[in-house]
Amino acid sequence: MPNKTILITGGAGFIGSHVVRLFVNKYPDYKIVNLDALTYAGNLENLKDIEDKPNYTFEKVNIVDADAVKAVFDKHKPDGIIHLAAESHVDRSITSPLDFVYTNVIGTVNLLNAAKEQWKDNFEGKRFHHVSTDEVYGALGDTGFFTEETAYDPHSPYSASKASSDHFVYAYADTYGLPIVLTNCSNNYGPNHFPEKLIPLMIHNIINHKPLPVYGDGKYTRDWLYVIDHARAIDLVFHEGKNAEKYNVGGFNEWKNIDLVQLLCKQMDEKLGREAGESQKLITFVKDRPGHDLRYAIDATKINKELGWSPSVTFEEGLSKTIDWFLENKEWLNNVTSGDYQKYYEGQYANEAN
Ligand code: NAD
Ligand code: DAU
Repeated sequence: MPNKTILITGGAGFIGSHVVRLFVNKYPDYKIVNLDALTYAGNLENLKDIEDKPNYTFEKVNIVDADAVKAVFDKHKPDGIIHLAAESHVDRSITSPLDFVYTNVIGTVNLLNAAKEQWKDNFEGKRFHHVSTDEVYGALGDTGFFTEETAYDPHSPYSASKASSDHFVYAYADTYGLPIVLTNCSNNYGPNHFPEKLIPLMIHNIINHKPLPVYGDGKYTRDWLYVIDHARAIDLVFHEGKNAEKYNVGGFNEWKNIDLVQLLCKQMDEKLGREAGESQKLITFVKDRPGHDLRYAIDATKINKELGWSPSVTFEEGLSKTIDWFLENKEWLNNVTSGDYQKYYEGQYANEAN
């Protein structure tokens, strides 16, 4: 008998697949149930190396379908939920906001209801871990950091939907006593990152000698964290975080987009044996993202002081490993960029970068 059953939602996505792998390998006595609808962003190829492990099971379920969610809870009776399933791309939220309301808000409430119902007789030893984002805090100016006390001020439909889901999670703790914990993380990067997001999109385009579309003046700033360090933080907070509290997770690693793209070009020219400066010529400034948040930066002092977490790799190492992974996994990249990706790309970057 497993000593715990953990339901991980969104486990076929970028971050979720790293969390599933960590838990399956680190906790052989746990049963890990990966619940995922396999949208365009979900890919079971991400989990090839662990799919045959005896403590791993997959359930193809859409969290918007409350009955299907309840059926999974009835079947597996999870002790813990780690909820990552979401629509996650800001640009898609600008063109299709309702998709974000359905999955990120209604889907989260369906999971909260199922957990509340399943655990109603005894919350002892149970935990609902909601994986959220620093984007709920809005945007910073040139200075300052987001702390756990920073007021919510989301700007994009994506961040508004994540902020709403966070509020529902707190509401279920306050109203029903549901045992919850939250993590709010900065920008992740690493293997299996879907190439609609900045870093993998640039890597894909550099490989293929395509224009590198930098929004606006490129001075927007993000705080980047290697995905495996985020998975380590989730493991720690899930097991040791205090009930009903949130923990900010970030890399203390701020980069202006243009500087980051230039660093990528430099590292990739070296790895691809191209002349220095060759990829940089592909940089193209394109029309800005509407409502573009200027700067995100996380103060990760709480998780560091209380739980002893800190990032394990430097940005240069992490970026180098990430590029190597994409160069060694061209088939993965070709598979995810064929079909629907082409249509998305043409719509998003119409007349600007082909
Ligand atoms: P992703 O888009 O790569 O993966 C999302 C996964 O959720 C996919 O496997 C997809 O199939 C699944 N999914 C989507 N809609 C679903 C539905 N209705 N029912 C069931 N499954 C569904 O996302 P990601 O970048 O891995 O992000 C995971 C979580 O972490 C999200 O909640 C996101 O808000 C949060 N987060 C992401 C970052 C980041 O930099 N990527 C940073 C902080 C927080
Ligand atoms: O901060 C955490 C968030 O980070 C997560 O919650 C989101 O799920 C995740 O997608 C990410 O959001 P961003 O909007 O910051 O990530 P993205 O990779 O889309 O963009 C990073 C920066 O790069 C941003 O300033 C926009 C810019 N950009 C992005 C793309 C795709 C470009 O300049 N050109 C591009 O083509």
